[in-house]
Amino acid sequence: MNVIVVAAECAPWSKTGGLGDVAGALPKALARRGHRVMVVVPRYGNYAEPKDTGTCFIQLLSYFGVQDMEVSYFHSYIDGVDFVFVDHPVFQHQENNIYGGNRPDILKRMILFCKAAVEVPWHVPCGGVCYGDGNLAFIANDWHTALLPVYLKAYYRDKGLMKYARSVLVIHNIAHQGRGPVEDFFHLDLPEKYMDLFTLYDPIGGDHFNIFAAGLKTADRVVTVSHGYAWELKTSQGGWGLHGIINDSDWKFRGIVNGIDIKDWNPELDVHLSSDGYTNYSSETVKTGKLHCKAALQKELGLPVRRNVPVIGFIGRLDHQKGVDLIAEAMPWMVAQDVQLVMLGTGRPDLEEMLRKFERENHDKVRGWVGFSVKMAHRITAGADILLMPSRFEPCGLNQLYAMKYGTVPVVHAVGGLRDTVVPFDPFKETGYGWTFERAESGMLVHALGNCLNTYWNHKKSWEGLRTRGMTQDLSWDNAAKHYEEVLVAAKYQW
Ligand code: GLC
Repeated sequence: MNVIVVAAECAPWSKTGGLGDVAGALPKALARRGHRVMVVVPRYGNYAEPKDTGTCFIQLLSYFGVQDMEVSYFHSYIDGVDFVFVDHPVFQHQENNIYGGNRPDILKRMILFCKAAVEVPWHVPCGGVCYGDGNLAFIANDWHTALLPVYLKAYYRDKGLMKYARSVLVIHNIAHQGRGPVEDFFHLDLPEKYMDLFTLYDPIGGDHFNIFAAGLKTADRVVTVSHGYAWELKTSQGGWGLHGIINDSDWKFRGIVNGIDIKDWNPELDVHLSSDGYTNYSSETVKTGKLHCKAALQKELGLPVRRNVPVIGFIGRLDHQKGVDLIAEAMPWMVAQDVQLVMLGTGRPDLEEMLRKFERENHDKVRGWVGFSVKMAHRITAGADILLMPSRFEPCGLNQLYAMKYGTVPVVHAVGGLRDTVVPFDPFKETGYGWTFERAESGMLVHALGNCLNTYWNHKKSWEGLRTRGMTQDLSWDNAAKHYEEVLVAAKYQW
């Protein structure tokens, strides 16, 4: 099958969160299953791609209103996947601000990108392969590319063209929907009969324009990134106004838990662990390996180097979703324990300042690294004993998967993908991977973390079991790719 994954970000070129990781890794796993796979992503910077295979450069005239937009495609074939970068001045230098700018600007970028992406199979013959031939499926991601299924229908399938092409829309986060005033519809360059698709009634604001809504209604299949989140999306609290549409789409809706890129996130091979006192390790050498990494992390961050103190990590965007405020509330309790706490992230300025304050006030126990550092994310994952994820909602969550792969025990709010992936520790059966708590409250977090610390200090054998079980799970993308394939096949049998 020919598969075209379309996303606003794709690691390693562009990434603000888990979506970038998924767009970088799922396509490779699908390609390993024998599909011809292309990724289409905006070209935010002047990427120096290896151009050894099938480079091509094409031009296209696309339209935004009455403007003619000349778009170019840059191509590179890596790990069995065609990566195609859509180039236009509106994308340039947006890498640190992918979703930023005023609303007309964002809308313009996303419209142009989706229009260019739907044209790709005709304009980019990758290494002689034309994606427009035979079975073709687009996989769009989140509201940014939710216009793609609509354009595919309006510009092609309604006209009897590309009849074999289908679309899957993946929900990574329903909180962002591309909402706006109803008049926004007129920027889309779609027949008026499509307007209803985009119009959603909101009890507070009345009718509004909603891109995600139209994409969900139009896509042949809808996927979200865990079973837990699939369930939550159907509820009025979890669906953020789109639960009605999701319930109506139940027949085409499915949860598939993300995998992780085990080339990037593998303690045996991790390049960030090969220097500065860190070391690579496997499930066999985890005990000494993690002690080395812990000491190196403590040294690098200027914390007291002590092998017996549990190091608790937090990595993530500093915002309400990630539950950083719960950590703040639990801070007095935490700093009264014999623990060290390492937090890495950027986000809301007030929460960034809070991290700095924690560090200032508890210099021998807390480090708050404000910034985004891939290297530090890897090093904290390896050097910490425990990873905290008190997210209020978490469609899938990748950090808990990385943590388990590195023998770091997760303590998480039992929500969305965290509930799916962190099976709670059962001390009687010696099963499970970590601790979960049922409500996003600091008291619950403290309770779960207290149990976790107790096991760390007093039940060494159980701790080792937790670590080994986490590390030896199959968390690779291969499993998820198999399920995506089922979805693609199911979409095909619709007509
Ligand atoms: C979003 C979600 C996160 C998920 C990621 C990849 O960032 O918030 O939970 O893991 O997308 O699907």
